[in-house]
Amino acid sequence: MDTIKHDLLIAGSGIAGLRAAIEAARTSNKISIAVISKVQVMRSHSVSAEGGTAAVLFPELGDNFESHIFDTIKGSDYLADQDCVERLVYSMPNEIYQLEHWGMPWSRREDGRIDQRPFGGYSYPRATYAQDKVGFYEMQTLYDTCLKYDNIHFYNEWFLTSILSNDHHFVGFTAIEIATGNFVVFKGKAGIIATGGAGRIYPFATYAHSSTPDGIDMAYRAGLALKDMEFVQFHPTGILPSGILITEGARGEGGYLLNKDGERFMKKYAPNKLELASRDVVSRAMYSEILEGRGFFDEATQMPYVLLDLRHLGEEKIKTKLAGIREICMKFSGLDPIDEPIPVRPVCHYMMGGIHCNIDGATEMKGLWSAGEAACVSINGANRLGANSTAECLVWGRYTGEFAAKYTLSNSYLEIENQQIKDEEKRIYDEIFHGSGDINPYELRDELTKNMQESAYIFRDEKGMQEGLRKIKELKAKSWKRVDDKSKEYNTNFINVLEIDAMLRTCEVVLMGAYLRKESRGSHARIDYPKRDDVNFLKHTLAYYTGDSPKITYHPVTITKYKPAERHY
Ligand code: FUM
Repeated sequence: MDTIKHDLLIAGSGIAGLRAAIEAARTSNKISIAVISKVQVMRSHSVSAEGGTAAVLFPELGDNFESHIFDTIKGSDYLADQDCVERLVYSMPNEIYQLEHWGMPWSRREDGRIDQRPFGGYSYPRATYAQDKVGFYEMQTLYDTCLKYDNIHFYNEWFLTSILSNDHHFVGFTAIEIATGNFVVFKGKAGIIATGGAGRIYPFATYAHSSTPDGIDMAYRAGLALKDMEFVQFHPTGILPSGILITEGARGEGGYLLNKDGERFMKKYAPNKLELASRDVVSRAMYSEILEGRGFFDEATQMPYVLLDLRHLGEEKIKTKLAGIREICMKFSGLDPIDEPIPVRPVCHYMMGGIHCNIDGATEMKGLWSAGEAACVSINGANRLGANSTAECLVWGRYTGEFAAKYTLSNSYLEIENQQIKDEEKRIYDEIFHGSGDINPYELRDELTKNMQESAYIFRDEKGMQEGLRKIKELKAKSWKRVDDKSKEYNTNFINVLEIDAMLRTCEVVLMGAYLRKESRGSHARIDYPKRDDVNFLKHTLAYYTGDSPKITYHPVTITKYKPAERHY
């Protein structure tokens, strides 16, 4: 079996992975860095980020660090670690200017300064944007910059299957090269997991279809904790029928939501912030309108919805500031938002949880860091504010890149145990590739994602989640592990089945954490426990792999100076 050796192995080629690679390369030109991704770089899900990246850029115009810190902590419903939020906020201006110096085409004001727009949950318009294609331009800028460094090596379309360790130290990954089907070992002194979120565990999602929990699950199977996985963000405006994101920037620019009576209903739920309350608040309001019979219903997709109206913004604003979503509306839903309101419903958009790590992005395994949506540092707590995700990817990409690079300079390669490789080969080839399941894994995936939508969507309760957990056990027990396509090269069927295997375990972690959290906080709204309970649940959930159901423990939240208070928008 081939072994590929690089000092630093970065899993994932989105904003966090690329930013980490650049920082590592800048830290030392003596180390070799591999960026390993199951997709081609510019197909990473980060490309589809739309609305903005949050940063305090203009104190002279009225913004300040304190306000960004407080908005983020309040948005998180006080579950964010406050020291981490401070680091995010203080580090961000530099990231915006750094991107600018690397060529990022930020949108400008008339006077030539970088422009910023309002976003949900903020007290100041601090979403820095490039039209409504922020992720695309950030990715292009970072990728171009990576290409300037001879010591960054890209492995596109390689699927990582497991983490290899030696006495709790990271030593590498196992992987399948998708083009050839070869099983290989990547050997490294340090690693960073930046494989993004897992939102495809829900059927209606803004995520790329590649956003499955392979990276998160790899960490989980390696004995690392997953933190706060019960907190799943449902963005208010997923367009029907596809679920593609209609950016919050549309509301930031003045768009509003209407129910079927033509009422701008957000005034009942968030009288001050209206459509620019935090996402959990807006999504709950939309869904309440739907449940109380004031939504619309689309017979073709069998989906309820409300309307997002942009018509009053006028043609020029829509064509200049929201061109991307206009194109999405026209191409995927056959309507022009200049003339018609957009049918939208809350859509799975982000996982606040991820691989448990400390403020430096270090995981519980020596030599292994995590950054971006795959990680849970945590700056997002129970609900992330829009525009803080690309920000988090940049900041923790930068820090983990630097820390991991320095680690490789003072540590040597450790031995890889053969037995671990053999065990992984057995798991993926004997049990899955040559498995003899008698039901179709794709049907199992559909049942699984539907189960998540039914039992762990916006409103949750004990009975629904018990049923959801029971269903997952039933699905796990089914005989589904089989790969019909036996070809070696480009076997996407095999990759899909490995993804489904990871999805099953991750769904169970989400549901178990949610079931045991008997309170409502941020995105986790329980109708049987409608209040936040700081006495019993101001703590992070940690889930550990046991081979069967996850073992759940808890971890304290870091509070610096912001005492938990009731949220009003
Ligand atoms: O609505 C948006 O443009 C999403 C931004 C985000 O999730 O940060």
